[in-house]
Amino acid sequence: MIRDTLGDYTQKAEPARLLDAGIESILILACGTSYHAALIGKYIMEELLSIPVRVELASEFNYQALTLAKAGALTITQSGETADTLKAMRKLKNMGCPVLAITNVVGSSASRIADQTIYIRAGPEISVAATKSFTAQLMVLYWLAMSYSKADARRLADLVMGIRQLPKKVQQVLDNEDEIMECAKYLAGYENAFFIGRGINFPVALEGALKLKEISYIHAEGYAAGELKHGPFALLSEDVPVIAIVAQDNTYEAMLTNIKEVKARKSPVIALVGEGDEDIDQLADLVITVPKGDAMFSPVVNTVALQLLAYYTARQRGCPIDTPRNLAKSVTVE
Ligand code: F6R
Repeated sequence: MIRDTLGDYTQKAEPARLLDAGIESILILACGTSYHAALIGKYIMEELLSIPVRVELASEFNYQALTLAKAGALTITQSGETADTLKAMRKLKNMGCPVLAITNVVGSSASRIADQTIYIRAGPEISVAATKSFTAQLMVLYWLAMSYSKADARRLADLVMGIRQLPKKVQQVLDNEDEIMECAKYLAGYENAFFIGRGINFPVALEGALKLKEISYIHAEGYAAGELKHGPFALLSEDVPVIAIVAQDNTYEAMLTNIKEVKARKSPVIALVGEGDEDIDQLADLVITVPKGDAMFSPVVNTVALQLLAYYTARQRGCPIDTPRNLAKSVTVE
């Protein structure tokens, strides 16, 4: 699927008119899992486009008095039918803001409202929980940011190499199911969990928690790792595992400190780490090993690992994975 989305865009994509229009900032709007992709998009775009990017929940945007000058908007919606996102798009259009929709569904309402649409080409997503559409949304965001990047030629060449290696790295995660299954068996015995990450992997923590709560019914919260000490520490105990997403970037040392703080409060730690990381191996109760690579692309491999963790945990608990209770695939009411 990643190969397909990548192949389509690198070979025959039309330019994103929004980013050709001399805009000075970008606003990204979305809900749920698509909102988490948007948050990752902020990190990617601010680094590669050197432009301020603001991300808002579409369901909240409708209550905000925002003035937009020389801004362009991206809206991300798998279904293209999420009522809050469509309402936000209409508000943007009324404000005179150009809107580029990133969606999976050809001819969807979002594609009809937008000035331009980019399709993520993930194919129909059957399960209620968004999985492959999230990865495909990220691929489009990488492609957009790399196409308009202000990074120097060398960095860009590294990024192109990094993105080409992604299908292989994701396959390595899929092949690591024994390790992930072992963590899932362990996690399935708890009723509460925290997911923590920093930087570009903070939204990955949010998404990991959303997937786990949605399909396994374990109460899970995603947190910026630095925020745990500002309140949630009170909840840490041997009954509350913490899943720590550790990337090989400038967040590494701080994450190591956070894991030590969590261990000191008796919470079991499951760490997502790059291969061969002995420091974390010694600290964590369990590890999920992911392939190393450019940290910019780490959200893709880490999210796939967390999707599998949620999947096997839900299976262990006997939950209906594709059709979790109380949820619908498209949320067409506000
Ligand atoms: C979670 C999930 C939801 C959707 C949200 C937005 O697994 O699927 O959080 O991401 O309802 O849906 P779209 O992307 O269709 O606008």
